[in-house]
Order: sequence, then structure tokens, then C-alpha cells
Amino acid sequence: RTPRRTRAGAAAALLALALLAGGCTDAGGGVRGAPGAAGLRDPYFPKLGNGGYDVRHYALSLAYDPGTGRLDGTAEITARATQDLSAFNLDLAGLTVSGATVDGAPAAHNRAGDELTLRPREDIRDGAEFKATVTYTGVPEPITDADGSEEGWLRTDDGALAVGEPEGSMTWFPGNHHPADKATYDITLTVPAGLEALSNGVRTDRRTEGDGRVTTAWHSAEPMASYLATVAIGRYETSTSTATGKPTPPGKPTAPATDKATASASESATAPRSLPVLTAAEPSVAAGSAALRGEIPGILARQAERFGPYPFSAAGAIVTEDGTLGYALETQTRPVFPAAAFDRTTLVHELAHQWFGNSVTPATWRDLWLNEGFATYAEWLYTEEYEDVPARTHFARAFAQDANWAFPPAAPPSAENLFDPPVYQRGAMVLHKLRETVGDATFDEILRGWPEKYRHANASTADFTAYAESVAGKDLDELWKVWLYGDGKPAKP
Ligand code: ARG
Ligand code: ZN
Repeated sequence: RTPRRTRAGAAAALLALALLAGGCTDAGGGVRGAPGAAGLRDPYFPKLGNGGYDVRHYALSLAYDPGTGRLDGTAEITARATQDLSAFNLDLAGLTVSGATVDGAPAAHNRAGDELTLRPREDIRDGAEFKATVTYTGVPEPITDADGSEEGWLRTDDGALAVGEPEGSMTWFPGNHHPADKATYDITLTVPAGLEALSNGVRTDRRTEGDGRVTTAWHSAEPMASYLATVAIGRYETSTSTATGKPTPPGKPTAPATDKATASASESATAPRSLPVLTAAEPSVAAGSAALRGEIPGILARQAERFGPYPFSAAGAIVTEDGTLGYALETQTRPVFPAAAFDRTTLVHELAHQWFGNSVTPATWRDLWLNEGFATYAEWLYTEEYEDVPARTHFARAFAQDANWAFPPAAPPSAENLFDPPVYQRGAMVLHKLRETVGDATFDEILRGWPEKYRHANASTADFTAYAESVAGKDLDELWKVWLYGDGKPAKP
């Protein structure tokens, strides 16, 4: 917008327009940008995320001292403005911000609750790309979820474990912490010598600093929702291999890829042979988890046959001692498991999330059943193929369980219920009903086509029902009405 001073009338009209549009005027009567919204109005977490910009890339440099629990961070955020911006927010819980810049110039910063507001010296134009840098420090505090579980930066005896679903990532870096704003990441971790520092994606660097600390750099080239970012610092044993692209049955670790002689016609083209697989486990659980960690490439290869090409350029798992985390989480490329939850079923579930949740990410938290329903159905498909337990047996069991009928999967009553059984079990039941209705061939096409259509994007429940109907070539209203949105249990399965 151009400032106008020629005629009072025109100026007044422009001013009125600007106010209507939510803009402000500067002292000279010219129009300038407005502050971005402090939240994206998620149905369950209205203040999560921020309006007015879209993050492209996070470059996080974090130094951690396990002795004191102190984190020193610099977050460099590359974003594009989606409106003329006079100020914008980042979500950050706890910690102390010591400085901020926008495009190299100091920016005013202000904290209120979990919102950090940056006010650049000059407005940012709609469409412009800008770089915001925030330096911060402090001892991160975990968040207690609506459902009572703990997430965020969790301190361990010799390090830390960071997990973020749904809100925890704001405890360790400032960002646009709503799944709708996915971005690529560089996460660089500096820790005392003798400790591992793991994160998502591909390890690109490891160097010893002048003071003896060790810096490890991780790169996520594919977009990631911030709740899927992870850090694991501590005494870990790591193991690396390269996926062979061959599906393997349970109990069969993938033979390490050797030379070209191992390539054969039966190799799947969907899990590339060059996919680096890095797993890590804390020493006390390393031996016990090694065999199952070895099955990851083979499971991914089978899933790639069903769900389409593996969406990321790295894979793996992090297995921790029990006591830090109470559940497994599908952190991108490298899911995290407390040892007690590192079983084959949970592994299949978290690996399936790499397609369902991580590549195709829910538009809002209300669409979470698209993650959990699919990941649960992936378990059912696995036992159907390898353990003689068909999906319909799981369906019948789930149908009989009262807990699954508390609410419809596409409409959890509150944030407290987001991870309750209906989201998982009834979510999977919806998919099973869809399979029965459209037949196996069409269902397989949907399983593969859905993650292809929304690869590295966001999707809502309405996107899914429309997509399934388009593949089926028919209206499925009745199915959605009863199984996806319906209150209570239908008279018959
Ligand atoms: N997404 C995880 C899984 O099912 C569960 C996360 C539970 N998080 C929570 N805050 N309760 O694989
Ligand atoms: Zn899950």
C-alpha cells in the first residue's frame, strides 16, 4: 500500500479501509502492516501457532549442559510473510529471550504467557521472505498435557529427551508450533564429550569444539511439523545400516546391505537402497532392543509397498530407558520408544506414522484420527499378513469394547480426549468399514494414493472423505455419518 497525502478525503477513506482490514496508520497518515494473529484458532489449542507468516526453515543451534539442565539456544527462522506485518508472534514456553533480530536488525521482543512477540524496526511486506533470529537460555520445563502426560524437554540422569506432541516443542525452541506450518530443519547440538546428541534426519556433521564439547548437526530436508522434532542427549549406543529395500517377516532382521551382488529382482523400488538407517539405544536397553531395531528396514520396505515410497531421506529409532517417557512417539524419521513400549506392534505403528501423520499431517488437531486410525490399521494389516490375525478380528474386538464408543473419532470432545481409544480404535474401524464397502483393490488404492496426494502437506478429515469417494467413484455419506461422526455404537458391526 502506498501512503497518500494529496487529498484529505482520499486519506480518510484509505484510513477507514486500513482500519477495516485490521491495519494501522503511521504518524504521517500512511498505512502500515498489522500484527500477525497470536494463534491459528485450532479447535483444541486456539493459541497454538501464529498468523501472518509461514515458516520455511528452522536452524536451531542448541548447547546443553546436563549437569545444570541449562539450554542455550539460537533459533534462526526463515519465513515468508502472508500479510503486511508490523509484528508477529512465536510460541515459546519458559526460558529467557536475550535478543532478537529481523533481517539482521535488532527487533523489539516481548513475552506474555507462551507468546513471544517480535516487532521489527520496519514492517515486513506481504510475500516477503525474512529471517528472524532469537537467542534464548534457561532450564526448560516440561508441559503437562491436557491428558496428564508429560512432554517437551524431559531431563534424564545424563542428558535429555525432547518430544512434542501436541504442544511440547515450545518448551525448547520458539516457533510456529501448529502442525499446519511445516518447515525444513537444521538442528545442531553441542554437548559434553562422551555423550551422543541425536535428532531427526540425516547427520551432516560431527566436530569437537575448542573446549572439548562435541557438536553434532542434523538436517531434515523434508518438511516437518514442529511436534515431530526430537532431541535425545545421553549415553546412547548407535547402529547404522542402509536399507536394502526388501520386506522381511517378523523376527528376521534385514541383512546388512553389502555390495551390488545382493541386488535382486525381488527388491522393491519403493524403499531406496541408499536410505540411511540410524538407530540408538541407551546402554541398558541396547542389547535387548538390537534385534527388533534390525527389523526396521524390512518393515519399512513392506510398508513402502503398501503406502508408496518412504517419504523421508533417513530412518531409524531411539530407544530409551523406562522412566523418562510414558509412550512411544513417531518423531520424524526417528521415532522414540521407551524400552517397555519397544515391541513389534508399536514399531509397526510408529513407522506407519511416517506416511500417516508425518508426511500427510493433520490440518488441525481435530483431524488426529487420520494419524492414529491409519497407524492402528497398519498394525492390523501387519498381523493379518504375518500373524494369522485378520483385520476383521481386530475390528470385532474393537467393536465389542465399550471404551471405543465414548465419542466419534472425528470429533473428540476436548483436548483431554485427543489420544483416547476412539481416535485410535474407532479410527481404524472407519478404515476397515471403508475396506469392506469399497473392496480390497480400491482400498489398497486409497492406502497408497492418499499419502501420495498429500505428500509433505496437510490434510483434513473432509479432504480424506472427498478423496476416498473420488477413488471409490461413489458417495459414502452413510459410512461417514455412522462410523466417523456418529455418536454411540451402531446396532451391528
Ligand atoms: N502419537 C503417539 C502414538 O500414538 C502418542 C502420543 C501421545 N501423546 C500424548 N500427549 N498423550 O504413536
Ligand atoms: Zn500413533
